[in-house]
Amino acid sequence: MTVTILTLFPGLFQGYLESSILARAISRGLVGVKVVDIRSFAVDKHHVCDDAAYGGGPGMVMKPEPIAAALEGTTAPGARVVYLTPAGRPFTQRTALDLAHGPDFTLLCGRYEGIDQRVIDSFVTDEISIGDYVLSGGETAAMVVVDSVARLVPGVITGESLQEESFSEGLLEYPHYTRPEEFRGMRVPEVLLSGHHEKIRQWRLLKSVEKTERYRPELLDSEDLSSEARDLARQIRKEGDGHGRDEVT
Ligand code: ADE
Repeated sequence: MTVTILTLFPGLFQGYLESSILARAISRGLVGVKVVDIRSFAVDKHHVCDDAAYGGGPGMVMKPEPIAAALEGTTAPGARVVYLTPAGRPFTQRTALDLAHGPDFTLLCGRYEGIDQRVIDSFVTDEISIGDYVLSGGETAAMVVVDSVARLVPGVITGESLQEESFSEGLLEYPHYTRPEEFRGMRVPEVLLSGHHEKIRQWRLLKSVEKTERYRPELLDSEDLSSEARDLARQIRKEGDGHGRDEVT
């Protein structure tokens, strides 16, 4: 799978692509990342890529010609072109899975107030936001997308790790512990030392549901939740209401 990134700041990606899991995936040929400087497609003497907005208002808009030329020079007609913008559809693990299983795609990073709408209308297939906040540009968002997609490409990380993630799908992850068994008076929960796989699975599920109830309670209303997780959520909520399991039985 090859991801092409169109940006006005290609240097931002260097350190990131040379580190960690992503660097290994690239060196093993599992993932290819091509970083393309949009400015090199601007034909005027000063390689200008931005201009004032029609209709007035503060800030500059990215000009359409260099972006169109960059897309036409790097991306096959009909290929998926994802524009990173706070005004896009929320990015989720499902989007990452979808991109990881699909063909090559291009990420288009906006700067300033954004890009000329006519480029979006002509080339962009998806508009994606990584969260309800405004970044200085789409580059950090592109790194988030590349990272989360690359680790889902077969062979990049072990199937076991991915399976563990899909087990906790729809819930926040349970807490993790490593050696030593006791750290500053705090012991690792006994169940994790027991070697009892089923009890460990149940404990982790309970912790996942508890954490989800605390930070993302709306996720517990999803239809996709397993019946086991749903039952645990119901119990936890009952306890939270002051009608705990022990009191009602
Ligand atoms: N560009 C600026 N803010 C962004 C966001 N939240 N998501 C994606 N691209 C962006």
